[in-house]
Formats: sequence, structure tokens, C-alpha cells
Amino acid sequence: MAETTRHPFLEDLSKYRGAPPTTVVIFGASGDLTKRKLIPAVYNLAADNLLPPDFHLVGYGRKEISDEAFREMAADAIKEFSRRELSDDVWGRIAERTTYVAGAYDDAAAFDRLAEHLQEIDEKVGREVQPLFYISTPPSVFAPILENLGASGLARKYLGQPHHAKVVIEKPFGHDLASARELNRTITGVLEEHQVYRIDHYLGKETVQDLLVQRFANSIFEPLWNRNFIDNVQITVAEEVGVGARGGYYEQSGALRDMIQNHTMQLVALTAMEPPGSLDAEAIRDEKVKLLRAIQPLHPTTDVARAQYADGMIAGKPEPGYLEEAGIAEDSGTETYAAIKLSINNWRWQGVPFYLRSGKRMARRVTEIAVQFKRPPGTLFAGGGFDIATNTLSFQIQPDEGLSLILNGKVPGLETRTQPVKMSFRYSTTYGSNTPEAYERLVLDAMIGDGTLFIRGDEAETSWQLYTPLLQAWAKAKREGMDRYPAGSWGPANAEALVEANGHRWRQP
Ligand code: BG6
Repeated sequence: MAETTRHPFLEDLSKYRGAPPTTVVIFGASGDLTKRKLIPAVYNLAADNLLPPDFHLVGYGRKEISDEAFREMAADAIKEFSRRELSDDVWGRIAERTTYVAGAYDDAAAFDRLAEHLQEIDEKVGREVQPLFYISTPPSVFAPILENLGASGLARKYLGQPHHAKVVIEKPFGHDLASARELNRTITGVLEEHQVYRIDHYLGKETVQDLLVQRFANSIFEPLWNRNFIDNVQITVAEEVGVGARGGYYEQSGALRDMIQNHTMQLVALTAMEPPGSLDAEAIRDEKVKLLRAIQPLHPTTDVARAQYADGMIAGKPEPGYLEEAGIAEDSGTETYAAIKLSINNWRWQGVPFYLRSGKRMARRVTEIAVQFKRPPGTLFAGGGFDIATNTLSFQIQPDEGLSLILNGKVPGLETRTQPVKMSFRYSTTYGSNTPEAYERLVLDAMIGDGTLFIRGDEAETSWQLYTPLLQAWAKAKREGMDRYPAGSWGPANAEALVEANGHRWRQP
């Protein structure tokens, strides 16, 4: 497709969005996510002039460190992880408004100190500053943090006004239906739903947001977007990395909890939901929940496959198997790969399988949604001499973001030979490559109070409702039914069998 200049939206983002004066408080201030994503996101928002004039950053954590030490840690994080280089000018503007409060998460007195600290900021600035609490800690302390936000009065600060307190909650949002419900109960005990921003960082990805635009701003897709024309949909979320140093976490999680139940289901919801009545957050989230509710319960043998990576080669380098990784039990029953066949029982999708797969240590990192259309009637180009592919529209979510469509064409020449051809559009050539990271968009949206790209409580529960029986069945089965796949491959044989049973094959992304 034609190359165009950089999109004007990216030239001056500050024209488009404005947040009120805000103090962002990060719980888990010295954690990995804070360093890799949150601090760089704040920094890049500042560089794009998207932070409000009276912006403040407060780190909160158990470690006793000074304001200065926290600032140094933040500057190092920007140097290491930001998409832009550290500029003293941009960082200086944030650094002078960056402070740190030390305290335990279950220490009510420490939260009172935090409340005083925020009050002092408001007084210094001379106006009411919106508090945005970002809970980026291990899930074991979500509940005490929420309870102390309630007890200290912080949760209700400025409630009734647009700049009321807001709370962002990182994943994992529970580990099954019961724990997600329990967490929702704790949340609703101290906050109103409109104050809560449950993160799924996939929703912050440009290409994921583009799904809505592609589907609903192009009239050519909608008439085809149903069981009459679509044969199956394949969603692949493949990673090249293994569990690395996260063995302890991963053993309790596995591919289903870590990737499928949240990120992959968001891709399903946005691909399959009905057109919302408006772009309003609730209109979109209502449609997503309706879609999730239409998914049929999973059959633990015919609808799913799971496996662990064995040793293998990735990019010419030998990699160990999952059971050899640090922190992994030698008889571990945790899956590093899961494949699922979803049946959506509604007017649009009945009979169209949605295949999902996600795994660590696969051939390469790629996330894509491939919509495979039905074949045309086989009267003309059906014989053996014709190379005809299924028309496939694929959204490449990452990396090398873009969209492609596989068509069939005639090879130039004096005989009639056919060949599949690919039409594609790449973000890097159309928009340039330095697009904002997911967390920039999400932090900004939470500051603005736009919940569209966050998960509503009922949405999280509906997804857990689908997967909890399967998790229970797997926990009971231990290693029974667990397949293996070599590191660096496209997955196990049982996942091939899952799609072949329906006459399909996994597409090679
Ligand atoms: C996280 C998972 O939520 O998403 C990780 O816990 C995974 O295991 C990561 O690697 C993938 O995110 P992305 O944005 O790199 O696809």
C-alpha cells in the first residue's frame, strides 16, 4: 500500500488529550513493572507534553529509601527501558516533583502519612490535585492496599468531582473465579466501579485499538464478518522467551492464566463482539461482556490442549526445557503452552471455531489474529494444477505491526497458473516506528478518567467463569495429557490434533 507521511496525530499529541492536575502514586515503587514500564511511560508522556501542568509522582514501597534515591532509580529505569533517550530537560521537570513514601502495605499509619503527603502537595500547588493510585505489587497485597486506601479516606478523596481518586490495578486479577469475585468484593467495599481501572496492557497496544477502527470504520468488512463468510479465526500469541527468572510466579500461573484468560480473550472479544452503540466505555464493555457470555463451556478433552517446552534451539542457541528451568518442580504440572477451541453460540458466530494458542519458547515472538474466509465454490480453480489459498485477513498485533490480506491471483504468463499473493500495510512505513507504548496510553487514559481500555469487574469474572472448570480439571489431572514441544517450534502435536479434528490447520504466522 502507498507510503504516507507520519500521521499528524503523532506530531503533537498534546492537542488531543488533556488530563487534570494529578499525583500518581505507585505502590510497588521499586518493582520490575515500575522500572520497565510505568516510569518510562510517565517520562514519554512528559516528552509528548501530555502530562498535566501540576503533575506529581510519588513512589510508595516497603524499602526505606530517600526521595533522591527513588529519583536516581527512576532516571536509571528511563535510561534502560524508555523508547526515548533521557533528556535532562524533560526528566528535570518530573524529577523536581518526584517523592517517595516508605511503608508497609498493611500499615494503616503509613497510609495516613501518605494522605498527609498528598495533602501537602495540594496545598503547595494551591489546588485540588487528582490522586491516581497505581497498584503494581504482587497480588497478595492488593487487598490490604485497597483496605488502607479505604480506611485512610484516600479512596474517597474528591469523590463527586471529576478529579476524584482513581485506582489502577495490575494483573493478575485473581487466579480463578472465586478469587476474582473476592477481589471485586474488596474493591466495591471501598471504591465505586467508575473509580477502578483494571489493567490488561494488550488493550493499550495501538494495533489492538486499531481492531475497532478496522472493523467499524471500513464498510467492506462488516457484511463478511459472520458465519456466512468466515470459516475460522486463529489467534496466536507466541513468545520466544522462556520463563527466565519468573519460575516461582509462573509455576502458580501457567499459559492459561498468564496469557489466555486475559490478553488473548481481549483479542477474542474485540474481534467478535457486536458493533457497540457508541464509542463510550460502557457501550464497548457491554458488548465485550455479551460476547464472552455467549462462549460455550469448554470440554476438557476435545476443546483444549496443553504442553510444556522441552529443550531445543532458538536462533541457533540451545535452550533448556521447562523442567530444567530455575524454580520449576521436576514433576511440574504447569503448562507453558495452551491451545483452545472456542465455540461462540450467537447469531453471528455459531459454527465458526475460534482457535487460540499461546506459548513460551516458540519459534518467534508474534501475536496475530487471522480471520480465514470460506473457500469459493470449487467449480473453476479447484483442480490439482491450481495453487489457491484461503483468503486470510490477518492483524499483526506485534511485532512489525500491520495488516495483511491473502488473495489469489494469476501468475503472468501464457498459461493460467494461480498463486496466493499478499497485500499488506505496515505501521512502520505508514506511521513511522516510534509509536507510543501501551502503558503510555493506559496511564494517560486513567488520568483522564477514560475506562474504555480497562477491564470491567463483570468482564474479568465472565472470563474466569469460562476457564475455572478447565483449570480445576488440569489441577486434578496433574501431568496426564501434558504434551511437549521442542523450544523453538510452533507447538505440540496435541494442538495440531485439536484443529485437525475439525478439518483445519494452524496457520504459520
Ligand atoms: C504478561 C505476562 O502479562 O505479558 C508475561 O505475564 C508475558 O508472561 C507478557 O511475557 C507479554 O506481553 P507482551 O506485551 O510482550 O506481549
